[in-house]
Amino acid sequence: MRLSWLEPAEGGPCTLSDLLAAGVLYQHLPMDPAVWEPALQTLCEQRGYVARDEVALSPDTPQLEALLGRFCVEHLHTEDEVRFVLAGSGIFDIRSVDDRWMRVEVEAGDLLVVPARRYHRFFLTPERTIRCVRLFQDPGGWTPVYREPTELPP
Ligand code: LAC
Ligand code: NI
Repeated sequence: MRLSWLEPAEGGPCTLSDLLAAGVLYQHLPMDPAVWEPALQTLCEQRGYVARDEVALSPDTPQLEALLGRFCVEHLHTEDEVRFVLAGSGIFDIRSVDDRWMRVEVEAGDLLVVPARRYHRFFLTPERTIRCVRLFQDPGGWTPVYREPTELPP
């Protein structure tokens, strides 16, 4: 995982405590199912995730551009967004407590929980491939809520 402020400013590097302050959980797990399966199971029990699937994005994915076009616009969900990366890589930009973008570049073994109601967006990296386990609190509850533009056009 690589963590940075999207627009570097005074105040030092982006750290795990900036993620934590925003309610984001991050953990790196070994890529051994005997280790990560029980870890995901524990997370499900602790946080009430009851549904699970796998998502894969690659140049072969039908409607890839349409999907990416929705993910890259700032949005939130009314439930946690949970991703455990099995392969490939991706970029999550997540709003900090002071509304700056924290850039989180994830790869295999990274477990990321963007908490409910925290604004974020997602991009592929130049390798354009990612495969993740997703966990859900409500099997039907994953709907993006897009952020109102913060500045009105002139
Ligand atoms: C999602 C991510 C990509 O909503 O933000 O699935
Ligand atoms: Ni999302």
